[in-house]
Amino acid sequence: MTVVSLVTPASTASRPFGRAAAAPAEAPSFRAALRHLAGGVSVITTGQGADRTGLTVTSLASLSAEPPTVMFGLNLSSSSFSVLARHRSFGVNFLNATQKQIADRFAGRAGEKGEARYAGANWSEGLTGAPLLEGALATLDCEVEELIERHSHAIVIGRVREVRLGGEDAALIYWRGDYERLGWMAEEARTALGLRGI
Ligand SMILES: Cc1cc2nc3c(=O)[nH]c(=O)nc-3n(C[C@H](O)[C@H](O)[C@H](O)COP(=O)(O)O)c2cc1C
Repeated sequence: MTVVSLVTPASTASRPFGRAAAAPAEAPSFRAALRHLAGGVSVITTGQGADRTGLTVTSLASLSAEPPTVMFGLNLSSSSFSVLARHRSFGVNFLNATQKQIADRFAGRAGEKGEARYAGANWSEGLTGAPLLEGALATLDCEVEELIERHSHAIVIGRVREVRLGGEDAALIYWRGDYERLGWMAEEARTALGLRGI
């Protein structure tokens, strides 16, 4: 096992049980550890019409059920930050295992920006006006409750105003630098169980 300290010598000294000085970690060792954290892939949408943009995230998490709130980390340098801060609303779209291309588009892999990221998929609008993906596992329409700027990112806290549930398909997961799937598409499950056509 490799142990890398992320504590600076000064803060190590102030901790009664701090370990003796090990070399401070470089950012890559932090990234190497976080690669092992499997995450569900969501697309965050924000803005309206030609002013729409969005991004792919794995940092989306539930904050509280009562009231229903979610949070995610948003890079301050991303093109979505200023649009989300202005519109004060966003959509969360949980991707299924067949929607990897949508994840790539919203990550800007081929250089798409803004409204171009919405090409090739069907969208409707939630109560707040946020775009919601047809065929997603589930979508959440959210109002921004708080934006907390920390380091390179903002913690976005969203109050959920509307929930739409899709099918029971396989989920798109990101793990160790690549997309994976979890579960079966509903159609595959029916075929495997010999239930197709019933
Ligand atoms: C699997 C995956 C997960 C990501 N998760 C986040 C995230 O949680 N927060 C974030 O700000 N960017 C995340 N990104 C990066 C954004 O999707 C996007 O690439 C970035 O915001 C640059 O977008 P821009 O071209 O609009 O500036 C992720 C990218 C991928 C491929």
